[in-house]
Amino acid sequence: MREGTVTLVRREDYVAPAYRIRSVELCFDLEPAKTLVSSKLAIERNPQAAPQPLRLHGEGLTLLRVLANGESVSFRHEDGQLVIDHPPADDSFTLEIRNSCCPEKNTELSGLYTSGSGFFTQCEAEGFRRITYFLDRPDVMAVYTVTLRADKAKYPVLLSNGNLVEQGELPGGRHFAKWHDPFPKPSYLFALVAADLVAREQKIRTRSGKEHLLQVFVRRGDLDKTEHAMNSLVASVVWDEARFKLPLDLERFMIVAVEDFNMGAMENKGLNIFNTKFVLASPATATDVDFFGVESVVAHEYFHNWTGNRITCRDWFQLSLKEGLTVYRDQEFSMDMSGGASARAVRRIEDVRQLRAAQFPEDAGPMAHPVRPDSYAEINNFYTATVYDKGAEVVRMMATLVGHEGFASGMSLYFERHDGQAVTCDDFAQAIADANPGSALSVRLDAFKRWYAQAGTPTVTARGTYDAESRRYTLTLEQFCGPSPGQPFKFPFVIPVAMGLVAQDGSSLPLQLAGEEAPGGTSRVLVLEHPQQQWVFENVDAAPVPSLLRGFSAPVNLDDGLSDAERMVLLAHDSDAFNRWESAQKLALSRLCAAAQGLGPAALDAPLVEALRTVLRHPALDASFKELVLQLPSEGYVAEQLPVVDPQRVHEVREAMRAQLAEQLHADWIEAFERNATSEAYAPTVAQAGKRALVNMALSMLCLQSQRSGDPVWPGRAYQRFKDATNMTERLGALSALVESHAGLAEPALSRFHELFKDDALVLDKWFALQARAPELDGRVFARVKALLKHPDFSLRNPNRARSLLFSLTMFNPAAFHRADAAGYVFWADRVMDIDAMNPQLAARLARVMDRWRKLAEPYRGAAREAIARVAAKPDLSGDVREIVTRALAEDEANANAQAAAAQ
Ligand code: PHE
Ligand code: ZN
Repeated sequence: MREGTVTLVRREDYVAPAYRIRSVELCFDLEPAKTLVSSKLAIERNPQAAPQPLRLHGEGLTLLRVLANGESVSFRHEDGQLVIDHPPADDSFTLEIRNSCCPEKNTELSGLYTSGSGFFTQCEAEGFRRITYFLDRPDVMAVYTVTLRADKAKYPVLLSNGNLVEQGELPGGRHFAKWHDPFPKPSYLFALVAADLVAREQKIRTRSGKEHLLQVFVRRGDLDKTEHAMNSLVASVVWDEARFKLPLDLERFMIVAVEDFNMGAMENKGLNIFNTKFVLASPATATDVDFFGVESVVAHEYFHNWTGNRITCRDWFQLSLKEGLTVYRDQEFSMDMSGGASARAVRRIEDVRQLRAAQFPEDAGPMAHPVRPDSYAEINNFYTATVYDKGAEVVRMMATLVGHEGFASGMSLYFERHDGQAVTCDDFAQAIADANPGSALSVRLDAFKRWYAQAGTPTVTARGTYDAESRRYTLTLEQFCGPSPGQPFKFPFVIPVAMGLVAQDGSSLPLQLAGEEAPGGTSRVLVLEHPQQQWVFENVDAAPVPSLLRGFSAPVNLDDGLSDAERMVLLAHDSDAFNRWESAQKLALSRLCAAAQGLGPAALDAPLVEALRTVLRHPALDASFKELVLQLPSEGYVAEQLPVVDPQRVHEVREAMRAQLAEQLHADWIEAFERNATSEAYAPTVAQAGKRALVNMALSMLCLQSQRSGDPVWPGRAYQRFKDATNMTERLGALSALVESHAGLAEPALSRFHELFKDDALVLDKWFALQARAPELDGRVFARVKALLKHPDFSLRNPNRARSLLFSLTMFNPAAFHRADAAGYVFWADRVMDIDAMNPQLAARLARVMDRWRKLAEPYRGAAREAIARVAAKPDLSGDVREIVTRALAEDEANANAQAAAAQ
């Protein structure tokens, strides 16, 4: 292994740029093999900075010419930079650069690349330097004017940021378009597209009366799949104006779909570029989950127009400034879009599940980092669940501490102060606090900001005692957070604990804290800011059940010490739907964990099965909520709770409990299947989607049961349903039921599905994913994944396709992946290295699936280490993957030991 090749960029080393670029004129002659780029930069010296050479970033470019103020100037290359030692001495000067790049060889999908028959760009975080030489850092903001020239027949559509100012014909069958973006922006928000596309268009009028053109560009033939994206965009514009008074500031707002894309989508000013997965949706080809994904990603990117673009990040350590805030905004939007209280709770539960599945493990592993990281080797590795999802939780806690209105005022102050600037997470928190003097946030802002600085998931321990004589209930809360890499010790966090007290009969008790004259309401937010604190509630008639961390009011683990009986009370009665769900999860989790450690039977006890039956049969609860409650915690989540993990054992135990639910709730599943049929025309609403999800779950359970009983009725019905389905959610649900139960009919169904959808890339992704996610049975699933790797429709080049097979296996199918013979790890290491040769960002994502290898029991642990070491030893490994495997293998013993001790 090469050592010392990971160079870290540190937050504390930030210095303001010595030069600024006020405006840029870019000209592109687009050809797949060789694109010519000429750029004219208006540069100013920063009067505060000492005189120094001008250093421009550039990567993989061929430099053709450099002129300063129209004259040639001497330059040199050093560490991937173009250095001009003696730029003109004036305060401002122009620099003209000509260079070329090769879009068709750009398999990294960063910078300018070809996908299908078009040109696309991706510049965040540091892709612009792969297009031309520049000060490629977010605190350098310039006004862009861009001319594109290309073959007219092949690339009839030429797009860039801002407004179209001119277009016309050129000799030789070529044409041009000139775009001007009036808003100064950092280079990471630059974009261009040249392709053969068609657009769905819609005009909207915002509150000021201004008219705006919205466009969604896709390939010919995909237009019928853009309605939902357009509706989502319109809804986003309306919502941001209503909720935060943030209007659309552009005459034209464009979304373009591209098939090859590393991430979900990108918020380039006025020209968002999207992974097709988050644009294209029709009932026949997309599931309810896909429809929801489109809505939330469209909203997310649109919301960046203010939180990210109008106010951007000073440096990449501040990434959560835009991402955490924008995720918070898209989550709030999705909740508002979904309707009533129960549908909102379903959204919240899904967001929390996501946080626990991805962010909690990250925060406990070798890649743990604060929401505002202190250092990185490769910034692309820090587009993480911590920066995004925990960052959103940090914003949510601020909103909880200052209240709904207070948060809106805070946002207004943030824009008043910083519009047009590149700022820091501190600036944001300060604005929210300053707009709310005297609030629970402002009075402890410094301590609150530890959420930005300290990694790790705190554990809150809660214990209550009831004193019948004084009619007092005393709640003691404690917090603790174990060490993280580079952070052996943590200061206490400021933790808002939303709570209520529930009587044994299920009613919500009025809350009166000692010192208060009268009871006030039935829910409160307690602020835990010390290692230990107590709250005394008065006039409590009988021992209550505390309902804590309602709505998941802080990103912590909660040890509430409740008994099964108390959890049953909450499951049946809590006014907080999140905690009802949580109670069921905790009941199931305790059984799963005990059984996985050999401390209990691999079975659910009768009272729990009955409680689940009650939920399933409940006349008033929503189908979507039932489906969430009836789902056992995932194998991954169970594994996180255990000090040492035997993935095969976890799988066995969970499958046994699933089989038990399939058997003991058989009649209830039949009823759920029949009662929740939807007859209305397809609409991706929470209500309909909830029914379809519950029906699909019921069908899976019924097929699972027939796998054991040998009764062919339900697989037969599933097959019929698969054939007759009128939408993808039902079709895929029926297919999954067959594949997951390893029914004989799975094979004909799979080939039929392939035949039907072989020309639809996004649907084929589902076909691959489904097979890779099936519960393992005698090594068949793993063998199938290996075979699918050679399928003519498979390719590692397309990130969606690669993810559909490889991430499904390695992230979502622990029992198929973690094999005693280590074949899964060998397969993983080979694929990481294959992909790394083309697309390091994608390879690094795949590399991360081994983050938690230290928790594995033998023989998995040793084999995992060996596989990681083999990757690390590859001489030409990318910096992206090197950072991941180096951290995974780092012997941070103090930290590893302390983590093990904390887990005991
Ligand atoms: N900024 C994008 C988003 O969150 C994500 C992204 C990052 C896309 C880097 C591409 C590259 O919306
Ligand atoms: Zn984002």
